Amino acid sequence: MPQAKKRQQRLLADPLVAESLFAFKLVLTMSLIEAQDITKIYSFGDVELRALGGVSTTIEKGEFVAIMGPSGSGKSTFMNILGCLDKPTGGVYRIEGIDTKDLARDELAEVRNSKIGFVFQGFNLLSRTSAIENVELPMLYNGLAAKERHDRAREALKAVGLEQREHNHPNQLSGGQQQRVAIARALVNRAPIILADEPTGNLDTKTSEEIMNLFVRLNNESGITIILVTHEPDIAAYSRRIIRFKDGHIVNDEKK
Ligand SMILES: Nc1ncnc2c1ncn2[C@@H]1O[C@H](COP(=O)(O)OP(=O)(O)O)[C@@H](O)[C@H]1O
Ligand SMILES: [Mg+2]
Repeated sequence: MPQAKKRQQRLLADPLVAESLFAFKLVLTMSLIEAQDITKIYSFGDVELRALGGVSTTIEKGEFVAIMGPSGSGKSTFMNILGCLDKPTGGVYRIEGIDTKDLARDELAEVRNSKIGFVFQGFNLLSRTSAIENVELPMLYNGLAAKERHDRAREALKAVGLEQREHNHPNQLSGGQQQRVAIARALVNRAPIILADEPTGNLDTKTSEEIMNLFVRLNNESGITIILVTHEPDIAAYSRRIIRFKDGHIVNDEKK
């Protein structure tokens, strides 16, 4: 038997090596996001509302996904579960292989903080606070020094083209600029996933295009996985995959 082959066999016989290889394979085959038969039921007294009726899908690292569907079809409910803002009633949700069911409240918050950046329709910026302070907010919980927080916030504002506006308050910025501050805030923890629920819903067509081009650039250049909800086909056209919801179910899932 050749020397190299012998050495390989000896290595594989070592339980520690075998175990590491198994873990490595698991990481290689694991999806970034894995939803299995997810249900969400809201109860009001004895009335039950089934917002999600069993949703299964996987999303890989680097995808750019649009979620579409009529109002009330469960899009935001699903996004809240993906973002670890809410837990499903039933089913399994794994993010980077971590089953969120096993996590305590603070552990779930930690996953959310490190893995997900949120962008909302209404920007959700603090109004009495400058752009840079808004961007620094998510870093208050992860023990970074003030200087590092400031540098990172600056870098994120630069990435969205707002380095000149760091001292402006939200009311001194246009809607598009406010949404760019919100995107900088979503980037600042270097999370691998951005979840955006109707991020262009309050913006005019031209500004919407600018925001979508920014998402495309972040997806292409930084490999950030983007999942966004929209009801506008023009906006969904920027994505490479469209998942359609109806009555709490996925009714269509198409890749370009
Ligand atoms: N926090 C909540 N409490 C009770 N019902 C809710 C809650 N959030 C959503 N729903 C209901 O769940 C269904 C799905 O809502 P949602 O996920 O917001 O839909 P979409 O984002 O597609 O418009 C709707 O019937 C809605 O009224
Ligand atoms: Mg919604």
